[in-house]
Amino acid sequence: MSRDVAKLAAGNAAVALVEDGMTVGLGTGSTAAMFVDALAERVKRHELREVTCVATSELVAARAIAMGLKIVELRDQIDIAVDGADEVALPEFRLIKGLGGALVREKIVAEAARRFVIIVDSEKLVDRLGIYVPLPVEIVSFGAERTYRRILGLGVEARFRSCPEGRKVISDNGNPIVDCYIGPERDVAGMSGLIRAMTGVIETGYFDTDVERVFVGDDEGNVRQLVAPTRKDGVGGC
Ligand code: A5P
Repeated sequence: MSRDVAKLAAGNAAVALVEDGMTVGLGTGSTAAMFVDALAERVKRHELREVTCVATSELVAARAIAMGLKIVELRDQIDIAVDGADEVALPEFRLIKGLGGALVREKIVAEAARRFVIIVDSEKLVDRLGIYVPLPVEIVSFGAERTYRRILGLGVEARFRSCPEGRKVISDNGNPIVDCYIGPERDVAGMSGLIRAMTGVIETGYFDTDVERVFVGDDEGNVRQLVAPTRKDGVGGC
């Protein structure tokens, strides 16, 4: 419950960055859902008239449409993307994402966005990625068992993500997801690079995409704003 307070606070804070006429990337997960609701509320109150959205999953698309937001296809650069994360490593502003299974679309939308903004509760902040959560990896369904064994060949513990009844979880792109347990002995960036280089691997949930800022909510509803120190386009730096 208190984590919900934190997520709500972070989502509400980020929505102030949206301006009329923007195309907004909508992330996937419970925190991103709070942002969707806050954005829809601003549209309903006519604070924003012309906002279009790009969704990173079928789930968030359905929620956004139900809330009266307009979803369009991703065709070009977008103004801003606001998404949750499973871990945020500071001070590098690197992320693990994909426990919600939407990592591929999330990474595409993040890269398409001029401004990539993360909203989390404070429990997501870590010094080092991949110790507490696995690195999600989406692989092509054709030959998935072989690709999975090749990942195991790197010496990491890895499992196909599955539903409680044992069925493999399948992403919106029609592919299985392998969760890789990196642990303290290895480096997530390095392992992600090795895994990504394999034929049959689509993408990993390691994000070294330029994050502009992170809104961190706490269980009392306060929000801290962390701005990344350097950005290619000069935004940020405070
Ligand atoms: C979705 O694929 C993930 O990348 C989410 O951003 C992540 O799982 C965060 O979800 P919560 O906000 O529900 O913790």
